[in-house]
Amino acid sequence: MLTEIIIQKPTIEYHAEENTIGIGETTPRLSWKILAAPADFSQHAYEIQIDRENGFARTKSTRRFSTFTDQQILVSWPDEDLCSRERFSVSVRVFNGSDWSNWSEPTFAEVGLVAKEEWQGIMICSPIPVDRFIHGEVSLIRKEFMLSGEVLSARLYTTAHGLFDAEINGVPVSTDILKPGWTSYNLRLRYLTNDVTSLLKGSSANVLGFWLSDGWYKGRFGFLGGRTNIFGDKAGLFAQLEVTYTDGRQEVISTDLSWKFSNGPITFSGLYDGEHYDQSLEKFNWSAPYYDDTAWVNAKSKEFDAGLLVAPDGPLVQCTDVLRPVSMTKHSPNRTLYDFGQNFSGRVQILVRGAAGDEVVLRHAEVLQNGEIYMRPLREADATDKYKIAFQGSEHSWEPKFTIHGFRYVEVETIGENCELLDLIGKVYHTDMQRTGYFSCSDPMLNKLFENVVWSMRSNFVDLPTDCPQRDERLGWTGDIQVFGSSAAFLYDVRGILSSWLKDLALEQKEYGNVPWYVPYVPGAPWPLAEAGNVWGDVATITPWELYQLYDDIGFIERQYLSAKAWIEKVLADFLDEELIVSKGVQLADWLEPEPISSAPEAQLTDPSLVATAYTLKSLKIISQMSTLLGLAEEHARYSTQYDAVLSSFRRKYFHAGGVCSNPTQTAYSLAIVFELVEEIHILTAGDELASLVRRNAGKIGTGFAGTLVVLDALTLTEHEAEAFMLIQCRECPSWLYQIDMGGTTVWERWDSMLPDGTVNPNMMTSFNHYALGAVIKWLYQSVGGVKIIKPGYKEFLISPLIGGGLTNASTQLDTPYGKVECKWDIKNDSFDMDVHVPVGTTAKVELPDNTILTLSHGHHSLSCRV
Ligand code: BGC
Repeated sequence: MLTEIIIQKPTIEYHAEENTIGIGETTPRLSWKILAAPADFSQHAYEIQIDRENGFARTKSTRRFSTFTDQQILVSWPDEDLCSRERFSVSVRVFNGSDWSNWSEPTFAEVGLVAKEEWQGIMICSPIPVDRFIHGEVSLIRKEFMLSGEVLSARLYTTAHGLFDAEINGVPVSTDILKPGWTSYNLRLRYLTNDVTSLLKGSSANVLGFWLSDGWYKGRFGFLGGRTNIFGDKAGLFAQLEVTYTDGRQEVISTDLSWKFSNGPITFSGLYDGEHYDQSLEKFNWSAPYYDDTAWVNAKSKEFDAGLLVAPDGPLVQCTDVLRPVSMTKHSPNRTLYDFGQNFSGRVQILVRGAAGDEVVLRHAEVLQNGEIYMRPLREADATDKYKIAFQGSEHSWEPKFTIHGFRYVEVETIGENCELLDLIGKVYHTDMQRTGYFSCSDPMLNKLFENVVWSMRSNFVDLPTDCPQRDERLGWTGDIQVFGSSAAFLYDVRGILSSWLKDLALEQKEYGNVPWYVPYVPGAPWPLAEAGNVWGDVATITPWELYQLYDDIGFIERQYLSAKAWIEKVLADFLDEELIVSKGVQLADWLEPEPISSAPEAQLTDPSLVATAYTLKSLKIISQMSTLLGLAEEHARYSTQYDAVLSSFRRKYFHAGGVCSNPTQTAYSLAIVFELVEEIHILTAGDELASLVRRNAGKIGTGFAGTLVVLDALTLTEHEAEAFMLIQCRECPSWLYQIDMGGTTVWERWDSMLPDGTVNPNMMTSFNHYALGAVIKWLYQSVGGVKIIKPGYKEFLISPLIGGGLTNASTQLDTPYGKVECKWDIKNDSFDMDVHVPVGTTAKVELPDNTILTLSHGHHSLSCRV
């Protein structure tokens, strides 16, 4: 027996251990990490033990399955398909060719409801007629029922058209918010499963209570004032409580016309506008038994297709941090400004006291101008919460339920002579992903940049990847995540959130005939949907490909291949011209390039056709690689031929003079170098040209969305490390560090969202929290940190730190699918010392600064050389 081997509990698909009740997969793939093993260990085989228990059918089984392979990431489910409600546990052990290890601890999970027939109830809505144009209403819903025995277990399955929050007998069912999240509701609707056994009282009366708000479904959302009723004109609730008694009987209570509706204390709630609460309208004990609900009205049914229901792919939105104000400034006796010191997505929880009718008003903003909160960049998002007090004297704690804001500052106004704010905290909310990647180095400014990017990611991964968290937008813009995807996957485990979003993307793409500008699509986009162009649409190829590489998950390719292919075919058919240059469609290209200084964000020095053609080439290369992986030889041949043809015309048009570009910009050179579009013999010339552009610009950045991700890589690949550091350490406007000198705590949308004189850029799009330009952290952890992937899932990786920029140390950590990769290096005098950790199951290729090359197997390694 190999007792020195430690295997972590297996993981099931993308589900963290605490989220394995109600999974949607009936043949879930399994992965495990081997945390420790002797130096000569390698996995030759694995054995999985699966214990199954089907509560409803009352069957139990234990089976073992062994396979000879070194695979340990997302291995196929070896048993028969699971069915709804089935509980199971899996443990694993591994074989080194002569001995077996101990078994890992088991991981438990339970399947949700996977067949349409499992759903018994109807969707219900309020019978009270509402004007179509009114939005922001929040209903209370209650159902009282008797349980006729001791409860062994109970599950609550819930979804909504709108947002819901559930309570049982007055106790909240879960702490996650904005449920069931945002998907393309007419194509896929998420339901959630909760273990509510401990909340029910056996042999007595019980109450299911729900709050229901409009949310993304019906509330105001989108551009230029937005629209209401985007997915439907009435919010609805669909719930099913399943109780198993200790004597084996089962009972199901599901939404029907006997459930009752009332209005409650939330008088308005909107995602953009905030929430208003009136304490005088509270219904004391409404979700507990014996409450008199005779004045409540019976539900009406609402059309609903249970066939659209899907279980979550990953975690939900949770409070992940609590911030306290770092300063307060009294602007008048009843108006105080609080600074949380950090821009974030979330809301404020207050503790107040006052007289009946007193009110507290909270206004949220990202920035100040002339010392006051500056709300203009929010456009038509009010971002204002209001709490009205009814009960004199006592202290009341309140936090809104169905809204969320992007802010750093809150201005609190107290209305009423005795109205007092006793305390307040900032609660940070986003999808509760597992953190995986860290980076720091000896330059505090670069560390601050890295942290700002982390905060921009946190602020914008709120159920789906959005552009910004604060203004009247907050949409799943495709271009933003396309450029930021691999950085996001370094920082957090994004498989759940992005697989869900990509599924919506594929479905909407089919529905609309093109990859929408943003997903879910909301009418009112500034440009025609059929014309949505490259960089944005290329998310359909690039993001699944990157996720496959980073997580060794072929599932991303299998699920997204048709979407990737449809995107490429759209570009070839509609955007490619006779010269084989992508000059058609709406090409936002190097969006927000800093020059020419103009209010038009699409104005740029780089030819949009150059950017679009370069991206088309990248996508063509990816689709041909994807088709090879899937064994589609004919498609591979078709796309490789297309690639060669478009590449020739790209070179003819833009690089007819060898390595010198006819449209010489930082972005043009960077794309051509990194996407390998210039002939190899000309690459160094192109690099020299790029480096001289950077020097001529005194290290100021010249790229927008398309070029920012690649400019530092292009310089590094062509041996211009000095210019790469010049760019990233520049402090003049525009640059990354300029934003930090101006007080930024997140990454900005425009390089100069705040102008050098401290005023906010007067243009319309001036978010202070957009992650796209933060994609530069990829260069920090890959080049300065030195950790680069070679084989999918980091099965093989490169450790090759880049020395320069005056840095004397750097530390990079990444929790890969195999376990922790670590690289810490520092330079003292002329000695370079490096500590590396290589996880079991992987190998590292190391290149030291003195050009020594080594291959390391798992374990800790300390290395040194002279520099
Ligand atoms: C968004 C962007 C997005 C862009 C595209 C903006 O309003 O905030 O991040 O990619 O529009 O046009």
